[in-house]
Amino acid sequence: MAVIPVQLAGRSYDVHVDRGLIGRLAELAGPKLRKSVVPVVADANAWEHHGAALAEGLAGAGKEVALYKVPPGEDSKSWQSLETLTDWMLTQGVERGDNVVALGGGVVGDLTGFACSILKRGCGFIQIPTTLLAQVDSSVGGKTAINTRAGKNLIGAFHQPSLVLADLGALDTLPDREMRCGFAEVIKYGILGDIGFFEWLETNGAKVLARDPAALEQAVATSVAAKARIVAEDERETTGVRALLNLGHTFGHALEAETGFSDKLLHGEGVALGMVLAARYSARRGELADSDAERVAEAIAGVGLPCEISALGLAADGAALVQHMLHDKKMDAGTLPFLLLRSTGAAYLAKDVDLQDVAAFLDEQLIAR
Ligand code: GLY
Repeated sequence: MAVIPVQLAGRSYDVHVDRGLIGRLAELAGPKLRKSVVPVVADANAWEHHGAALAEGLAGAGKEVALYKVPPGEDSKSWQSLETLTDWMLTQGVERGDNVVALGGGVVGDLTGFACSILKRGCGFIQIPTTLLAQVDSSVGGKTAINTRAGKNLIGAFHQPSLVLADLGALDTLPDREMRCGFAEVIKYGILGDIGFFEWLETNGAKVLARDPAALEQAVATSVAAKARIVAEDERETTGVRALLNLGHTFGHALEAETGFSDKLLHGEGVALGMVLAARYSARRGELADSDAERVAEAIAGVGLPCEISALGLAADGAALVQHMLHDKKMDAGTLPFLLLRSTGAAYLAKDVDLQDVAAFLDEQLIAR
């Protein structure tokens, strides 16, 4: 059992990492659940797997669930979903001092968190992430958002949860492909800032994916602790520190856009490929040894994540992929900052990247190695 504090003036909260947490919500939330009826917003699949444990645990504390089910998938992060969810919260009589529970992956966490950021100008929420990716990334740090026609996560708010319960038991039923996607965000913490963790994952990655209890807890707790440190330092991504968490995301976003944000390439797979590209591009700039870039690629390929964009069968060339990058929300006054590597375990924000050079690099990478 690990308890990791996210320290933010006036808004600190704990992230619990353990098995069996879903049934302990009432005990761990304590007075954060003020009323006998607890509003729960749940991904429909997550509810099927974990609803009984949640409801039984609450019943043991004399509480019952008011349930709002969200259909699985990114389409639920829409204006329309936000409207129906906030209407439901109002009919439930949710007040500012209440906490709404979000049970599910990143979609439910982002949608519920954003709804809670605007309900009566802000009410509380508790995250119970049920995917590895949500446990190590989206449930921690207070980024909430919905998607619009113009792009993903373009409408949102920073709104911190009041508690996060990362129940490792929830990962037992997670498909292996989703586990690998979460692993991409786990190894990201090693690549961007912790060579010791990267090396530990080189050895123990397969155990983490096999859900070995001790390895899984160490991987999740180390990732959450890394994110907590970064968020505490730069909550609103203004100093460049939190931006380090975007390692792999600019290249990855272009690949996800080119594949239509479909199951041809899931977000974690895009991030995995993006980190390999960031490492190889850093090597091309002479900032990272070629051998270090290939070590990153091997660690990613070693757990079954994609590491060669030539294998995607894309019709696009490098210039077309760069066009997708121009819609990235990190665009700043006409330039696009890139997360690159000085060494494995030391990412930095490069503001001098020439997009024509990136396109030429991508053309090389699109040819089978
Ligand atoms: N997922 C990146 C961040 O939370 O900043």
